[in-house]
Amino acid sequence: MNTVKAIYPGSFDPVTNGHLDLIARGSKIFDHLVVAILRNSGKNPLFTVEERVEMLSEGVAGLGNVSIATFDGLLVDFAREQQAQAVLRGIRAISDYEYELQMALMNRRLAPELETIFLMPDGKYSFVSSRLVKEVFELGGSVEGLVPKFVIERLKQHQR
Ligand code: PNS
Repeated sequence: MNTVKAIYPGSFDPVTNGHLDLIARGSKIFDHLVVAILRNSGKNPLFTVEERVEMLSEGVAGLGNVSIATFDGLLVDFAREQQAQAVLRGIRAISDYEYELQMALMNRRLAPELETIFLMPDGKYSFVSSRLVKEVFELGGSVEGLVPKFVIERLKQHQR
């Protein structure tokens, strides 16, 4: 029997409810979904990779076919290592599309056997990003409902 394994890569700094919505959707489509955190991001993250693994693990606890991993270097190399057939990415709005298309086509050039699959998160998360969550929280605004409660707790810890 053919099983399909997909990689959902990202920074997840931190995981948002939009990410978790996409993971839940992906877990229904793929036999196995590996959520993969990029280790060597140049983005100067707020959370360590270990913290991000912990938060994501808590977020996907109810989903039996989802696992969390970290990777360095090219996504396509990690996907091949994992023997995955697909890459999952979320598109919230048209503004995401250009960058996502560029990455998908570059990845296709590097690994033609790997398909990128785009899913849309629930519309109520279309404006939610890790970057804005961090900014709003930092400036004293509420991020309730945009990230899980345990992420809000971690954000508070980072403020102290
Ligand atoms: O959550 P992000 O920051 O939008 O995720 C971007 C990510 C991690 C998917 C992308 O930067 C990536 O795949 N980086 C790994 C290095 C790589 O393969 N670069 C070429 C991409 S075409």
